[in-house]
Amino acid sequence: MASINDDVPTPPREILTERLLLLPAQESDAEAVFGAIDESRTELEAWMAWTPQVRAPEDLRRRAPQVRENWDARTDFGISIFRREDGRFLGGTGMHDPNWDVPSLSIGYWMRTSETGKGYVREAVTALTRVGFGQLGLRRMVITCAATNTRSRRVAESVGYQLEGRLRNDERLPNGDLRDTLVYSLIDSDDVVRELLAGESGTLTQ
Ligand SMILES: CC(C)(COP(=O)(O)OP(=O)(O)OC[C@H]1O[C@@H](n2cnc3c(N)ncnc32)[C@H](O)[C@@H]1OP(=O)(O)O)[C@@H](O)C(=O)NCCC(=O)NCCS
Repeated sequence: MASINDDVPTPPREILTERLLLLPAQESDAEAVFGAIDESRTELEAWMAWTPQVRAPEDLRRRAPQVRENWDARTDFGISIFRREDGRFLGGTGMHDPNWDVPSLSIGYWMRTSETGKGYVREAVTALTRVGFGQLGLRRMVITCAATNTRSRRVAESVGYQLEGRLRNDERLPNGDLRDTLVYSLIDSDDVVRELLAGESGTLTQ
């Protein structure tokens, strides 16, 4: 019997950009992802509550079936970022919190510390934004981040996302401090989206 989710789109399973290969996160990435998290604990743990729970590759392997199930059910799309040149695992991104009624999605990201400052995240976010508005037919895409997370804000702003709101005392940071959350968005009629879709979109394969 067809499920309701058969009616909604799914991102391509492979996205190629100039320097990157984006693939669904999978069990076989566990060692590489763990290595990247382990070298980046100071930066990641400042912002992301899940990182202290990852103490061994096995912790990632255990989550893999759920990640795959979420992709198939179109409820969450976890994506690994690899460098095309040498296949190195660079970081994670994903399309989250879908509302297929709109339809809309949000994007999250992290980069291993040794590969930050090279524009890889904005390259990945640009590609996902193109896929979102192009192939998935989204009407809205969102990036949220802590107001004090300057580097994350720069990613959203550099791709052209518009600041649309500030949620005060919205959540707690991993250190227990309250944080304001900034909400950035793009909608399909924004000039930035038209320009992104008119530009080079890279090679997309299903
Ligand atoms: C937030 C985070 C993903 C940003 O990573 P990043 O590497 O700074 O982001 P980018 O890949 O877009 O790189 C941008 C930088 O690369 C530089 N750069 C170098 N070569 C570049 C190129 N070829 N193209 C574009 N930018 C380039 C840019 O000038 C920019 O530098 P700046 O930060 O000094 O302005 C990273 O700091 C991180 O993982 N933080 C911890 C987790 C986190 O906070 N995630 C977000 C939660 S909301």
